[in-house]
Amino acid sequence: MRDRILGLDRETPLLDGSTVTYVNLDNGASSPPMIDSVNALNDFMPYYSSVHRGTGFKSRLSTRIFDEAREIIAQFVKADLTSNTVIFGKNASEAINKLAHSLPSGDDCVVITTRMEHHSNDLPWRDHFKVVYADILPDGRLDEDDFDRKLAKHKDNLVLVAITGAANVTGYIQPIHRLARKVHEAGSLILVDAAQLAPHREIDMKPDDDPEHLDFIVLAGHKMYAPYGTGVLIGPKHAFLNHSPDYSGGGTVSVVTSNKVYWAGLPDKEEAGSPNVAGAIALAASALALMNYTMKRVEEHEVILTKYALNRLKEVPGMIIYGESDPDKLDRVGVIPFNIKGVLHSLLAAVLGYEGGIGVRSGCFCAHPYVVSLLSLSDMETESWKDEFLAGDKSNMPGMVRMSLGCYSTKEDVDRLIVMLKKVAAGDYAGKYEVVKSTGEYAPSGYLEPFGQYFKFNR
Ligand SMILES: Cc1ncc(COP(=O)(O)O)c(C=O)c1O
Repeated sequence: MRDRILGLDRETPLLDGSTVTYVNLDNGASSPPMIDSVNALNDFMPYYSSVHRGTGFKSRLSTRIFDEAREIIAQFVKADLTSNTVIFGKNASEAINKLAHSLPSGDDCVVITTRMEHHSNDLPWRDHFKVVYADILPDGRLDEDDFDRKLAKHKDNLVLVAITGAANVTGYIQPIHRLARKVHEAGSLILVDAAQLAPHREIDMKPDDDPEHLDFIVLAGHKMYAPYGTGVLIGPKHAFLNHSPDYSGGGTVSVVTSNKVYWAGLPDKEEAGSPNVAGAIALAASALALMNYTMKRVEEHEVILTKYALNRLKEVPGMIIYGESDPDKLDRVGVIPFNIKGVLHSLLAAVLGYEGGIGVRSGCFCAHPYVVSLLSLSDMETESWKDEFLAGDKSNMPGMVRMSLGCYSTKEDVDRLIVMLKKVAAGDYAGKYEVVKSTGEYAPSGYLEPFGQYFKFNR
């Protein structure tokens, strides 16, 4: 896979003026582009033209390729396109918001989600529904007994269960098919936010009449080696037919009179305006490359590397791993959150970046309630942090550092991380770091980033 990822050979600068190849352990946020998607775009772009409206050859070709991209995405998650639709949008957040707009809503309508969700699979539900949260266990896993209780209690008013496929903080993989069976027995539908799962594991929506069928799936192109602004919502056509779309405008209609609108069929009705054709093609190309390589091989490689990383992290003095730290418990993807005792997460992440050439993420990872609970923060601590935060000072923001693997990550990447972590644990780093209060991030004082040597516009 390394040959298929763009930019792995590029040197990036360190604080001491030297350069190193970059180690990206932040794939959980966004992954680098796959060469297959870059090549597909390069080949296609000379023919790019308007879709679904032009009559010329380039428009006809663009329309055909755009529609084929949907077929490939459906194949990636094994969706039946006779009954389901693939809706392209901007990202996973937009896709979830679209679904929140599409379902019957009201004060009595319940959506069950969990305490481990990314904000994108929590906040959109709060606006439209009564949200019920399934609890988590002390180790950060889903409390399935609590889930069962809440499902039984709310089943009469339940519109949807919305659950992540893999948690973006701890990497836990949810038993999505087992939960789907329970949700269907309760007479409801299930959404799997697969933004974090799809780059790591095969996804199978299963046939519509299978009790373990997944009703809705959400994907994010930028986490699947196609960072060109595409997200996807896949689900049954009937869910999108009986209401007006969240955005209306060009492309969404069949007929408009001076006082009436007749909506177009699917997916056009749900894709207002000119679509991101390039993003859809790039995503389809990377999905194809992953399917050809096989997700089984992606999984096998990642399992070995996650075990290796968990074992090696334990060598670092003061290491605290959150969630599961047993390398043999495999209900997780290669996402590992940690801290070093006595070192602020944001300072640690800064030293890794400026002095190690290693990209990670630190903070709360858009999952504040989950991180607060994994850190076992008291209500008082959370309150005082919240007040400081709202007053514009993020320097004491609680959090963790997260390393997240990609299909191209190597043991050498992990080794470089461990060397740097050991140095930081021993206080052996060079920069004098200062916090930027408004962001909570640390940066070495007096250092000017040599960005212009790496990329600049031709102005
Ligand atoms: C589990 C999960 N869901 C949703 C999102 C939101 O994705 P996007 O940035 O594409 O909206 C993320 C992003 O980190 C995520 O990890």
